[in-house]
Amino acid sequence: MAHNSNEKMSFQEKTETNVWLLVICLALGLSVAGIVEIMPLSYLDSTYETLTEEEDGIRPYTALELEGRDVYIREGCYTCHSQMIRPFRDEKQRYGHYSLAVESKYDHPFQWGSKRTGPDLARVGGKYSDEWHYQHMMDPKSVVPETVMPAYPWLATADLDHTMTAKKMAALSMVGVPYTQADMDGAADAVQGKTEMDAIIAYLQVLGTMVNFQEGKDYRQ
Ligand code: HEC
Repeated sequence: MAHNSNEKMSFQEKTETNVWLLVICLALGLSVAGIVEIMPLSYLDSTYETLTEEEDGIRPYTALELEGRDVYIREGCYTCHSQMIRPFRDEKQRYGHYSLAVESKYDHPFQWGSKRTGPDLARVGGKYSDEWHYQHMMDPKSVVPETVMPAYPWLATADLDHTMTAKKMAALSMVGVPYTQADMDGAADAVQGKTEMDAIIAYLQVLGTMVNFQEGKDYRQ
């Protein structure tokens, strides 16, 4: 880009030769584009919907399901399983109705993921019996001989720590999960004497079963 030093540099030449000018122009350009795309969402009623349990069917996890979810996260099940069915025909045929945003409104953190060494689990609830899950967790190969899923037999003998459940609920209620005082008072009793296996099965059995499908219906009318 040889130019005579007497000549005035064009704006393009300046931005190409001065990295800070380029950075500032990029930041300005991207901000404008971002504002134009994102701001209108704040003025649409449908962006932030607040639905009651009667409307969308979604309730907070019970004490046992909540403990099961924590076991699921601790054991890293999400490294092989996603929990989000995409809105494509093949996904709907294999797994059922695609996932709705409202279904993970009480999940902190959500378990959507994209790693699928195993199948998506967003609607696995009710697909198998509790006994099937027990056998599958104890020894997956005894149910699906070709599986690469590891066994989790220790869950069957590990007792849940019932002293933590109410505290977990209290923490979740701080980020908007509507647990009541009664939920928290009853939490310890609800999980006492249960194993981590009981909890993870309770959690798996509720996945994808709560939501009220009302496709195309406007809840706000
Ligand atoms: C190394 C990857 C891997 C990990 C980790 C893993 N799974 Fe799996 N999982 C699989 C594969 C592969 C299958 C499909 C074959 C089968 O049913 O075993 C599967 C199947 C399943 C199924 C049956 C799904 C269906 O619709 O048939 C459930 C339920 C399940 N896994 C739960 C779990 C849970 C709970 C954990 C954590 C404790 C876990 N998995 C960890 C790989 C994994």
